[in-house]
Amino acid sequence: MTGHKSTAMECSWKAVLLLVVASLAIQYTAIRTFIAKPFTICRVPKHTGCGPSLAASCDPQPQPVTHILILATTRSGSSFIGQLLNQHSDIFYLFEPLYHVQTTLINTSLRSRHPSSPAADGRRLLLGAYRDLLRSLFNCQLHDLETYIKPAPDKHRTQRLFRRGASKALCSPPVCATLPPALGGELEQEGAAERWEEGECVRRCGALNLTLATQACSRRHHIAIKTVRIPEIGDLRTLVEDPRLNLKVIQLVRDPRGILSSRIDTFPESFRAWKIWRNSGRRPYNLDASHLSATCEDFVNSVGTGLGRPSWLKGRYMLVRYEDLAREPEKKTEEIYRFLGVMMDSNVQRWILNNTRGAGASGNHKYATVRDSAATAEGWRFKLGYDMVELVQNLCNLTLAQLGYRMVNSPEELRNMSVSLAEDKTFLPFL
Ligand SMILES: *[C@@H]1O[C@H](CO)[C@@H](O)[C@H](O)[C@H]1NC(C)=O
Ligand SMILES: *[C@@H]1O[C@H](CO)[C@@H](O)[C@H](O)[C@H]1NC(C)=O
Ligand SMILES: *[C@@H]1O[C@H](CO)[C@@H](O)[C@H](O)[C@H]1NC(C)=O
Ligand SMILES: *[C@@H]1O[C@H](CO)[C@@H](O)[C@H](O)[C@H]1NC(C)=O
Ligand SMILES: *[C@@H]1O[C@H](CO)[C@@H](O)[C@H](O)[C@H]1NC(C)=O
Repeated sequence: MTGHKSTAMECSWKAVLLLVVASLAIQYTAIRTFIAKPFTICRVPKHTGCGPSLAASCDPQPQPVTHILILATTRSGSSFIGQLLNQHSDIFYLFEPLYHVQTTLINTSLRSRHPSSPAADGRRLLLGAYRDLLRSLFNCQLHDLETYIKPAPDKHRTQRLFRRGASKALCSPPVCATLPPALGGELEQEGAAERWEEGECVRRCGALNLTLATQACSRRHHIAIKTVRIPEIGDLRTLVEDPRLNLKVIQLVRDPRGILSSRIDTFPESFRAWKIWRNSGRRPYNLDASHLSATCEDFVNSVGTGLGRPSWLKGRYMLVRYEDLAREPEKKTEEIYRFLGVMMDSNVQRWILNNTRGAGASGNHKYATVRDSAATAEGWRFKLGYDMVELVQNLCNLTLAQLGYRMVNSPEELRNMSVSLAEDKTFLPFL
C-alpha cells in the first residue's frame, strides 16, 4: 500500500492550483483504498453468493482468479479483442472504466514527459489514480468507481457508466432483469444477451445498480478490463508485482498507418486537417501529428520493455498484433486463452465464427466489431494517400521495424494487396 502514499506525497507542493485539486482526489482514492476490505485471490465457485471478502469459506484449492488487462490504444482493434473475453461466461468484462478517472481529473495530462513540469506531475497523479482504480475493480469493488462518475450515483445507481452496454455481464441477469424482446424464457439467458445492441441494453436495463454489478463480478471467476489510457507496460509494474493480484497483460498493437486511417474515419472532428489531406491530396499547414508520435513512442517503449523480458513480467505479458488476430482469429484466440490459463468456452468460439467471416456486416457503430476482420485490417492501404503513408513511416520507423510492419516505397507497392505489410513474425508469450 505504500505505493499510494508515496504517489500522494510526492505530489509536488510547488504544483499549481489545479494539481492540488487533482491530488485531493487522489488522496481521497488512496484513503478509500486503505479502508477497503482486505481480500484474497481465492474465490469459491460461482452461484454460491460468496464474495471475495469471505475468504474463510473459500475452497482450499481453488482455480486461480485471473486478472486480465488489455493494454491498447485508440483504434487498434481493442473492441475486437475485448469481445473475445467479454463473450466468455466466466469472465466479468469492463470496457474502459478509466474513462471516468480521466474526465474527472481532466486538467492533468498523460502526454508530457518533461520531468519537472506540472504536466509531468499531473501525469504521475493520473497514472496513480488509474492504478488504484484498476486494483479496486480487479477486486470487484465497483463502488470505487462512484467517486469518478458525474453526476454522482444516487443510492449506488447510475445511468452514466461509460459504455455499460459493451459489458455482457452488465446487460444480463441479475444486473439487468429484463430479457431481450421476442426471445422466450426458454432460451439460455447468456445467449440472448449476445444479441443486444449496446444502446438497447442501456435503454432496457435502466439505471445500473452498482451493488448488483459488484455481485455479478464476484460470481464470475475472472475479470478483464480494457483500457487505452495507460501508455506503457512499465506504468503497470506495481500492479503486475502486487502479490494480491494475478495480473496478465495482453498488449494489443496495430500498424500505425492503420491506426491513423481508422482514427480519421472515427473521429472526423479531431482529425479534420488529416481528413482534408486525405480527401484533397493536399497537405494542410496546421497538421498535428503529435498523437501519432505519442502512440508510436508508447509502442516502442512498451514493447521494448515487454520483449526485453524483465523478470517482473515473467508469465504476465503477451504481445498481440491486431493483424495476426484478424488473419487467424481462432488460432490467436486459443493462444491468448492458453496464455491466460483460462479454458475457452463455446460462447467465444461462436462469437468468432459469427464475427470474422463477413457474416453480418451491419456495423455502422463507431466501435462495431461485427465485420470481416481480415479484410479490414489492411483496408487502410486503399484509404490513405502515399504521401500520408510516407509521413507515418518517417515518424514511426522504429515502431514499424520493431513490430514487423513492412514499409512501402511507392504508391504501387502500397496498393498491391498480394503482399501483406504485416510480416510473419512470431511474438511468443513470455512464460
Ligand atoms: C482546466 O484548466 C484550464 C486552464 O488551463 C481552466 O480554464 C479550466 O477551468 C480547467 N478546468 C477544470 C475542470 O478544472
Ligand atoms: C441494488 O441492489 C441491491 C442488491 O440486490 C438492493 O439491495 C438495492 O436495494 C438495490 N438498490 C436500488 C436503489 O434499487
Ligand atoms: C452464430 O452462428 C451460429 C452458427 O454458427 C448460429 O446458430 C447463431 O444463430 C449465430 N448467432 C448470431 C447472433 O448470429
Ligand atoms: C529511423 O529514422 C531515423 C531518422 O530519420 C534514422 O536515424 C534511423 O536509422 C531510422 N531507423 C530505422 C530502423 O529505420
Ligand atoms: C504485386 O507484388 C507482387 C510480389 O512482389 C508482384 O509479383 C506483382 O507484380 C505486383 N503487382 C503489381 C500490380 O504491381
